[in-house]
Amino acid sequence: MIKLLISILIIYLINNLVESSCSDFENCPTFFIDSSNDNIVANTYGSVITVNGVDFGTDVIGETIIVENNINGGGASVKVLVPDSKLEIDIPAGQSNKNFTIIAYFLNYNYNHTFNYTYEKPIVSSFTFKESGDLSIIGKGFSYKIDNNITLNGQVYNASKAINGSITLTDSINPTKYLDQGGKFEIIINVAGQISEPVTFYLFEQLSLKTTPKLNITGGKSTLNGSFKTSSTNLLKLKINGIICEIESVNSNNLNFTYPSVTKIGKYPITISFGDDLISSEIEYINFKDDSDERPSNSNVLSLSFILISSLLFIQKLLI
Ligand SMILES: *[C@@H]1O[C@H](CO)[C@@H](O)[C@H](O)[C@H]1NC(C)=O
Ligand SMILES: *[C@@H]1O[C@H](CO)[C@@H](O)[C@H](O)[C@H]1NC(C)=O
Ligand SMILES: *[C@@H]1O[C@H](CO)[C@@H](O)[C@H](O)[C@H]1NC(C)=O
Ligand SMILES: *[C@@H]1O[C@H](CO)[C@@H](O)[C@H](O)[C@H]1NC(C)=O
Ligand SMILES: *[C@@H]1O[C@H](CO)[C@@H](O)[C@H](O)[C@H]1NC(C)=O
Ligand SMILES: *[C@@H]1O[C@H](CO)[C@@H](O)[C@H](O)[C@H]1NC(C)=O
Ligand SMILES: *[C@@H]1O[C@H](CO)[C@@H](O)[C@H](O)[C@H]1NC(C)=O
Ligand SMILES: *[C@@H]1O[C@H](CO)[C@@H](O)[C@H](O)[C@H]1NC(C)=O
Ligand SMILES: *[C@@H]1O[C@H](CO)[C@@H](O)[C@H](O)[C@H]1NC(C)=O
Repeated sequence: MIKLLISILIIYLINNLVESSCSDFENCPTFFIDSSNDNIVANTYGSVITVNGVDFGTDVIGETIIVENNINGGGASVKVLVPDSKLEIDIPAGQSNKNFTIIAYFLNYNYNHTFNYTYEKPIVSSFTFKESGDLSIIGKGFSYKIDNNITLNGQVYNASKAINGSITLTDSINPTKYLDQGGKFEIIINVAGQISEPVTFYLFEQLSLKTTPKLNITGGKSTLNGSFKTSSTNLLKLKINGIICEIESVNSNNLNFTYPSVTKIGKYPITISFGDDLISSEIEYINFKDDSDERPSNSNVLSLSFILISSLLFIQKLLI
């Protein structure tokens, strides 16, 4: 609160202390608004965007062309943050598949600039069960203003408004009660007509690692065995020795990945994360080239037999 008051005071002081060099249109041939924010993708919880410019004066009149009512995301505003050089665009929380337009007028309507915005598409990234047992879906682009809907295996269920990137199933028919343990569940979210990519989850699984393979110090490809909660490779993050590994494919029980080389044999940290879940362990790198490390190879067995035969022959000679 105090921070807010101080920033308001600072903005007020700046606005009143910094003299605009552009009191009228004729004196402002250098008028410029940076166009890198002409097409804004706003967060569904709202966005505040700063736009740089030159000599645009002290006032701006922002006109929002309302294509939908305010509950869906109309009513963005634009104001001068620093005379002649910085604007701020405030986009309210909303959800829509429409494009919104703000026309900003400067220097007594002599100049104008158009900003367009849309809301981000929904993305489903993980899930969790609350203490109550209710299923929560975590991601981005959910509605913070109206109730959401989850499509689970093709069936639509009611869910809450988003809080901090997460929505909770509120449907009186709780589908998780009827879902099979270990089965696959495809989740899609439609937020005001914008539809997420479908993701597959294994709802009742705990993230875990059962066995860790030995890795080749030269790097390569391998398979982890465990339980991975999703078949979407981009929802999991695998790190070995602090380096992110490419996950090539994953299903409920195994995960195929490419791993980096290391300079020395030994144990290295491995972490796998899915949303807020994280497991850590160690994985061993060995030198597969140096076969004697692993097991006697055919040539070793051969030379061993050779030594054995020679000794026998030697003993036989001694006896004679
Ligand atoms: C919104 O704008 C984007 C690009 O700026 C365009 O691809 C899309 O079709 C527009 N959507 C609507 C509903 O007009
Ligand atoms: C914006 O300014 C241009 C000229 O720079 C003018 O042609 C256009 O009509 C103006 N747009 C609006 C909506 O006033
Ligand atoms: C903004 O949207 C309007 C209306 O859809 C369109 O005419 C204009 O070209 C868009 N501007 C930019 C910079 O994309
Ligand atoms: C929102 O989520 C972040 C990260 O998960 C957490 O640190 C923060 O406390 C949460 N805020 C609220 C209000 O739940
Ligand atoms: C889902 O929500 C709608 C209102 O948005 C309500 O009419 C309906 O009864 C709810 N369905 C269930 C199964 O709770
Ligand atoms: C959820 O579904 C209801 C009923 O179909 C709809 O009115 C509402 O807009 C949907 N919510 C979102 C965020 O799309
Ligand atoms: C280990 O790497 C070496 C060199 O790239 C390769 O010749 C060998 O086949 C690899 N061994 C295994 C088991 O991947
Ligand atoms: C991986 O785990 C599954 C399930 O526990 C088991 O059936 C399979 O044999 C394991 N594979 C390896 C290579 O350990
Ligand atoms: C991982 O690779 C093994 C051996 O190449 C294969 O049998 C298995 O199906 C693969 N797993 C996935 C999830 O693609």
